[in-house]
Amino acid sequence: FTVDMDPSAADKGAYPFYMLKEVDEQPAVMRKLVQKYFKDDQPQLDEKLLQDMADADHIYIVGAGTSYHAGLIGARMFERLTKTPTTVHISSEFAYEQPLLSNKPFFIFLSQSGETADSREVLVHVNEHHWPSLTITNVDKSTLSREATYTLLLYAGPEIAVASTKAYTAQIAVEAILAKALGEFKQIPEAQDFALKQQLGIVANGMQAITDSKDKIESLAAHYLSKPRNAFYIGRGIDWSVSLEAALKLKEISYVQAEGFASGELKHGTIALIEKNTPVIGIVTQDRTAGLTRSNLEETEARGANTLTIAARHLAKEDDTIVIPDVDPLLTPLLSVLPAQLLAYYTSLGKGLDVDKPRNLAKSVTVQ
Ligand code: G6P
Repeated sequence: FTVDMDPSAADKGAYPFYMLKEVDEQPAVMRKLVQKYFKDDQPQLDEKLLQDMADADHIYIVGAGTSYHAGLIGARMFERLTKTPTTVHISSEFAYEQPLLSNKPFFIFLSQSGETADSREVLVHVNEHHWPSLTITNVDKSTLSREATYTLLLYAGPEIAVASTKAYTAQIAVEAILAKALGEFKQIPEAQDFALKQQLGIVANGMQAITDSKDKIESLAAHYLSKPRNAFYIGRGIDWSVSLEAALKLKEISYVQAEGFASGELKHGTIALIEKNTPVIGIVTQDRTAGLTRSNLEETEARGANTLTIAARHLAKEDDTIVIPDVDPLLTPLLSVLPAQLLAYYTSLGKGLDVDKPRNLAKSVTVQ
């Protein structure tokens, strides 16, 4: 049994599909989150939530699909800014193969809808043990919101397209706000030095610049992605986490068999799949790994791949395909994912597919 949100709850306006409208809404969502969560330059969150999190010795993030991918980014933020060990779990796995837990766990549930059955299954178990929990969701009073100890809302507005876009970036932004607040609470210097409010303003402007370059991304999609059956996104560290979400977008709506890979792992197997004209898209936003990912891209090119790059401006080379504005290294996913969302959108559109309602998928999955 699956449910879809009521499409009349949001108006598509002049947009051919909700997905494009929702991609375009992302700068406004970032600004809204600043307005909702900041007072002056500091995030304002419930002190009890921060105390419960500060008391924990391990944060467990649980989610499905795109929400799981947002968790992968969040874990890096919690470890960096709060010094709390953090792991991310696919809810359908966690529910049946529970890892050995720490003594004082804190659970974060990421769910756009707040209704995903696999995630709820984990929360029921968490509540049986009286462990503290937080749901980060777009839907106030949803099941996961009602059943968790705390809730933080995404304020992204209704997301109608099955492929999640603005909820993913809103989840990452809320995780950053929470990590900053908890890090400040724990007096961690990295959090104190993190000018998040200012950075989210830079992100909003950067998102705007990327969504303003749709024509270019549309022609790249037509040229590189309209025919191949397979494609790869590669990156290292946080860029790898984004590559998983980028590949999921392409799979979901354009039916290209896409995979996201840790670029250093390619040579340990996956490079065997590279054929003439296989698209390989490298995400290059981090100083420490840019050179390595670029040489991995060259390795695929030597085997016939058509390579593209999504590179941060300060690392950009002349022949980079897509250049995104610079932002704090922890927040690059908020920008690097946008070209991937648009590449998936235009590939699907070019194939004449129903972008908003891909086959076999539902917006909210309430079966296990
Ligand atoms: C479905 C949707 C995905 C979504 C996942 C988790 O599979 O098609 O886009 O990421 O559910 O949904 P949630 O509402 O829990 O974030």
